Amino acid sequence: MKSDDLHNSIKKLKLKNVKIDHISKIGEGAWHDVYKIQRDFEDDIVLRIKKKKAYGQILEYDELDLITEYESSKAYYQQANQCSFDICPSFFKYFIDEELVFTVESFMGEGKPLQSLTNFEAYTIGKKLGEFFLVMHSKNPGIKGSGNLLWNGKHLEGNLQQNAYRVWQNDNDFYVSILNKLIATDLKIDRNTMVDKILNLIENRRNKQQNLSLVNQDVTPENIILNSDKVSLIDPFPTVDFDLKYAGYFIFCYKFLLPAYSTAPRYRNNAYDQNCSILSKIADGFTNGYIGENEIWLKCLKNECILWTLLETYDHYEILNKSELSYKTIQQMGSKNIINKRLTLCLKELESLCSTI
Ligand SMILES: Nc1ncnc2c1ncn2[C@@H]1O[C@H](COP(=O)(O)OP(=O)(O)OP(=O)(O)O)[C@@H](O)[C@H]1O
Ligand SMILES: [Mg+2]
Repeated sequence: MKSDDLHNSIKKLKLKNVKIDHISKIGEGAWHDVYKIQRDFEDDIVLRIKKKKAYGQILEYDELDLITEYESSKAYYQQANQCSFDICPSFFKYFIDEELVFTVESFMGEGKPLQSLTNFEAYTIGKKLGEFFLVMHSKNPGIKGSGNLLWNGKHLEGNLQQNAYRVWQNDNDFYVSILNKLIATDLKIDRNTMVDKILNLIENRRNKQQNLSLVNQDVTPENIILNSDKVSLIDPFPTVDFDLKYAGYFIFCYKFLLPAYSTAPRYRNNAYDQNCSILSKIADGFTNGYIGENEIWLKCLKNECILWTLLETYDHYEILNKSELSYKTIQQMGSKNIINKRLTLCLKELESLCSTI
């Protein structure tokens, strides 16, 4: 099946200068099988062939979804490359029909495995990413509206059409509503400390409206070519949302979320828990690249991490209350037992972050 798809995609591309022994499988995520094609006299390219099944389910063909997904990547790559030369594939095309869906894009190199990075390399990579995100976040997203992106037949637009001030206030209201739900549960938490800190943080945050920008919601190490000389980003999941909030998301992922998800089947082989000190160094470099030493901004960044932790904690609680978990949820998050253990971790993290503001 796979080799047929590979053969057909090469045929569709009408590639010249390809010798069949110059095609190698270089990766596989949940959604794509990935091949590198070496060509004589031309740059190497990558074929990402959409799988027919993901998380145990046959993928229904949905043209709008596919265009949205790939146009979003294209928009992100274009803007990213304007901010930092060649940080993302400069060549990117996609082909969709009911039988075969694939992208073809620049090969961005191999990168090192996490565990073989030195602390210095990890910090350098993080710093470069922080510097890049700072520039990327300062750009106008060039997309109407904010929130989840959707292809409207002509271009991408966000699903929220309110003005930025309204979106910002709603964002703050949302955290307050999650906080209220969390403290109404029977979970063992230090309610007083948490409520005071988070309400106070939100009141200050309301007056410091952040900028809407094109942000990436999937910054896992598999989507970063880890190379301290030349860092690259692939497979983004873009949305239009607030800048510092998403800088905070990066830190939250590398300091807490990735190691915490090591117990989930989807991430078990990545051994993030064993590499937590390297991940943490990447986060430290990122903070330095994005913020530098400014104490006020450092505090704002930390506050964003608290809010992400709050959301993650409540997500875990809510999922545990479902009578049954889907196969996808079990793969991505783990069994109820695993989710319950992670909930305890989230609560600990939240309490610790709140007690040191
Ligand atoms: N353009 C590229 N250049 C170099 N390597 C690539 C490229 N695209 C993909 N890869 C390799 O293939 C792996 C899987 O690719 P990718 O992340 O695109 O798959 P996916 O199924 O979309 O991922 P996910 O499960 O995160 O959605 C990457 O981790 C990377 O090692
Ligand atoms: Mg990926």
